[in-house]
Parts: sequence; structure tokens; C-alpha cells
Amino acid sequence: MDSNSNPIGVIDSGVGGLSMVVALDRLLSLEEIVYVADPFYFPYGEKDKKELIHIVSSLISYLNEVLKAKLIITACGTISSNCLDELSALFQLPIIGIIDPASKEAVKKTKTGKVIVLATSATVKSGTFRKHIQRIDSSITVKEEAWPEFVEAVEKGLHQTDEWEKWIRTQFIRFQKENFDTIIMGCTHFALISTFFQDISESSFIIINPALATAQEVKEYLKKSNLLNQSKVGKKRIIVRGNSANLQKTIQNFSNLKKINIEAFPEKYS
Ligand code: SIN
Repeated sequence: MDSNSNPIGVIDSGVGGLSMVVALDRLLSLEEIVYVADPFYFPYGEKDKKELIHIVSSLISYLNEVLKAKLIITACGTISSNCLDELSALFQLPIIGIIDPASKEAVKKTKTGKVIVLATSATVKSGTFRKHIQRIDSSITVKEEAWPEFVEAVEKGLHQTDEWEKWIRTQFIRFQKENFDTIIMGCTHFALISTFFQDISESSFIIINPALATAQEVKEYLKKSNLLNQSKVGKKRIIVRGNSANLQKTIQNFSNLKKINIEAFPEKYS
């Protein structure tokens, strides 16, 4: 078997990583995709860097050593913003995060030059999005906000309530008053429900879903490296460390994922 048919590994804490699986499936339908979700350690966004590196290393080791992944995507905003360099130094395989593709997309799209990043506490604390965007264009104003309670609501599938919608509308009015026109879904959980944000905003904002920009970057990388899978359609797998109930419920919303048989993460690698 040539290495081109080896899987693309995707990692995240919970349901949010499905945003990347959906985006990859659309753009790279021949690729085998293995999504390893980690609700056992959810939420990543409230953990410190040392703990995150330790937790995520076991997922990458498994994808690397056992499943021979040809590439890893850290779909998670928290991991991408806090430990991408450290993980890349630890493992001998390409690891791609969401910060660079999402930042480039926001810089390209904003007209007012004012970008909001909605993310977890750890992502906001790192300031990585702001630094990255301003490295691309120093004239851009970036405001990063942590919405940890909303991350929890999305993980449990409890975000579609009148209370949450009202609360989000209030935040959007605030952003509009300050002339922000672009919002990055800086946490996978928000990326997964981009259309929910789009509907509430009634197209007043440019919503950036990092999964789409990252999938495009992955496609270019695989092409450039001659690693695109040209053979038969690869499997889509979801492997879960911890309780898979939220994942099981959420995949029912996606016609191309709902038949996937969720597998348990091997204890040996935990
Ligand atoms: C979390 O686990 O707290 C959210 C994942 C993310 O940061 O994208």
C-alpha cells in the first residue's frame, strides 16, 4: 500500500471537530479521514499548555504509530493557538492548525479592517490569532473574546434556545456598533454551527469557518507533496476517547456522517 492512501488524522476535544470532517469530505472525498475526538478531556479551552501537550500527544501517537496518518490536523482552536510548534517538534509528521488559514481568510475578506475572534479562554489568553493576523496586516484591529459557556452548550447540543439566540444578537449589536465586519469562529464548536451564526447575523457579518480554509490548505499541501489519494474512496472513521453520546447525537445532523459506527479509543494509548 502506498502512503498516499494513508489517512488524514483530525483531532479535537468533542463535537466541534466534525466541522473539519465535513469540510475535508467535501473537498477531499477520496481521502481516508480518521477523526479522534476527546470528550474525556473536554473542554480543552480551560486547560494549560503543559497539560494540553500531554493530553494531545497520546492522540497523535496513536494516529501516527498505529494508523500511520500521513498528516494531522489540529481542528481545535485551543491546540492550534497554544501548542502547534511544540507538537510539530515532538512528531515526525506534518501537523496543520487552523490559525494561519483562518487568519489569511479574515484578512482577505474584511472591508472595515476590524475582525472579531470568538474562541475559548486558552485561545484568547494566547493572543495567537491577534498576533498572526497583525503579522499579515498590521493595520487590522483584532478583538478576541472567550465564550466558554457557549462552547459547553454546543458540545451538549443545547445552543438552539431563545435565550442563547437573544444573547448572541446582543453581542452582534455590540460588534456592529464598533464597526467590526468579520467574525472568525475561533473554536471548532462555533465552526460546526457557522450557519446558526450566519442566520442570526442575517448576513451583517462575514463569518469565517476555519475548517473550510484549513481543508483548502491541506488540499494544496497534499498536492504539492504528491500525497493526494488517487485510489478508491477512503473510509471516514470517528474514534472517541470517553463518552461518545454527544458525538452520536450530533452526527445525526449530517447525512454523510450519520451511518458511521463510532469506535472507542484504545485504552493502551490513553
Ligand atoms: C474546547 O475543547 O474547549 C474547544 C475546542 C476548541 O478550542 O476549538
